[in-house]
Amino acid sequence: MAKIGVIGTGYVGLVSAVGMAALGHEVVGMDKDESKIRKLRRGELPFYEEGLEDYLKDAMAKGLLRFTLSYEEALEGARYVFVAVNTPMDDDGSADLSQLLSASRSIARAMRDFAILIVRSTAPVGSLDAMVEVMRQEGKERGRDYELAYNPEFLREGTGIYDFLNPSRVVVGADDPRIAEEVMALYEGIKAPKLKTTIKNAQIIKYASNAFLAARVSFINEIAAICESLGADVWDVAEGMGLDPRIGRQYLRPGPGYGGPCLPKDLLALIRMSEEHGHFPSFLEAIHLKNEAQKRRVVWKVKEALGGVLTGKTVGVLGLTFKPNTDDVRNSIAIPLLTRMGRQGAKVKAYDPMGAESARRVLRDENISIHDDPYEALEGADVVLILTAWKDFAELDWERIRKAVRNPYIVDSVGVFRDSVPAGWRAWVVGKGEVAGVE
Ligand SMILES: NC(=O)c1ccc[n+]([C@@H]2O[C@H](COP(=O)([O-])OP(=O)(O)OC[C@H]3O[C@@H](n4cnc5c(N)ncnc54)[C@H](O)[C@@H]3O)[C@@H](O)[C@H]2O)c1
Repeated sequence: MAKIGVIGTGYVGLVSAVGMAALGHEVVGMDKDESKIRKLRRGELPFYEEGLEDYLKDAMAKGLLRFTLSYEEALEGARYVFVAVNTPMDDDGSADLSQLLSASRSIARAMRDFAILIVRSTAPVGSLDAMVEVMRQEGKERGRDYELAYNPEFLREGTGIYDFLNPSRVVVGADDPRIAEEVMALYEGIKAPKLKTTIKNAQIIKYASNAFLAARVSFINEIAAICESLGADVWDVAEGMGLDPRIGRQYLRPGPGYGGPCLPKDLLALIRMSEEHGHFPSFLEAIHLKNEAQKRRVVWKVKEALGGVLTGKTVGVLGLTFKPNTDDVRNSIAIPLLTRMGRQGAKVKAYDPMGAESARRVLRDENISIHDDPYEALEGADVVLILTAWKDFAELDWERIRKAVRNPYIVDSVGVFRDSVPAGWRAWVVGKGEVAGVE
């Protein structure tokens, strides 16, 4: 079994560390965030991920996983070093490589023995050359002191550890096939198709996969609007399409637009990467434009329900996270939408079963309040807006809410009420149009 250091214990780094320990490797997770490491040392998760805590505790109890703030400790004796720091969106949409390069510098300074640096962050073509340059500035030479591999992560937040242990595929990119072979051997315990390729190919596999998923969402949102105009129901249409194995059912769910920490930023980074090399990807641009239009459409639906004016009205919002079963609000559609409505003078009162705390950190507009109780959030609302498809929302006491709102109208941007709208309510349901609840 191998010794592995993991730099960055966020969603991807922590799942990789815990997953590798579950496969029997000896892992040291390192992060520069003290509070994260303190929690992890106590066996607690710094964010919500189903099932991950049990695996974490188990690996720690077996002595296969520990955490540190020190690069030296993480690298000591580790032939394999996973790099899983973030590559967030820069102002112009390209990938911001500052965390990746700063981590590379620290790794170079702390490295004593030869190691294979396995980049797990989503990183554009050219970024590993920049890493090589930083390592060179610190006196480390590729081939002699270290080697590089690119091993993209395809996990879905919320089911991260399940996805790590049961992946659709494992992709390892390395320019030397022996390195690819060695890195792939770390995944011996995993049953999945395994693809060894070049670094560039592996990087583009990651970006193209996310762009394709984004395309599916934008596509079905387009069809949803067409269905509404023609009096059809996109939910049946999507099911009928998805039954074709050439199409498949996933990511054919209409909504307020895709969000989250990956799809928006990876699509834009792919567009920028392409533009930098002289190709202007109009198809990818269309996916992005459709997503922006979808967000505006949802705000427009809210405005329409309010007679065209947001100012002075109260919008009760259900859902802040970018999807259910996570507490992550990074790039969640809810953030710009609520901000936009707040700026237009609406009083926005929101509730989310898990994302309230993270949303409070980013939503600081005086017109926006976040509540721990859904009934409190919806009290006095002129319209109810549903932005995340949490199952619990359908199970709320809608009769009680009806008595507490000013106008029983729901803008259901995620289709919680696609089968039936609660009695006494009217709703706009994405992909279906206006529906009235049956008394
Ligand atoms: N979140 C996902 O669902 C997902 C899925 C696939 C791929 N990815 C990609 O994986 C990468 C990481 O994403 P994430 O969601 O895990 O990010 P994250 O922000 O949750 O985690 C990054 C971690 O790295 C730490 N860090 C930053 N700089 C550091 C440094 N110099 N030294 C040590 N630690 C440092 C941060 O403190 C943080 O804990 C990104 O490139 C992302 O695009 C994410």
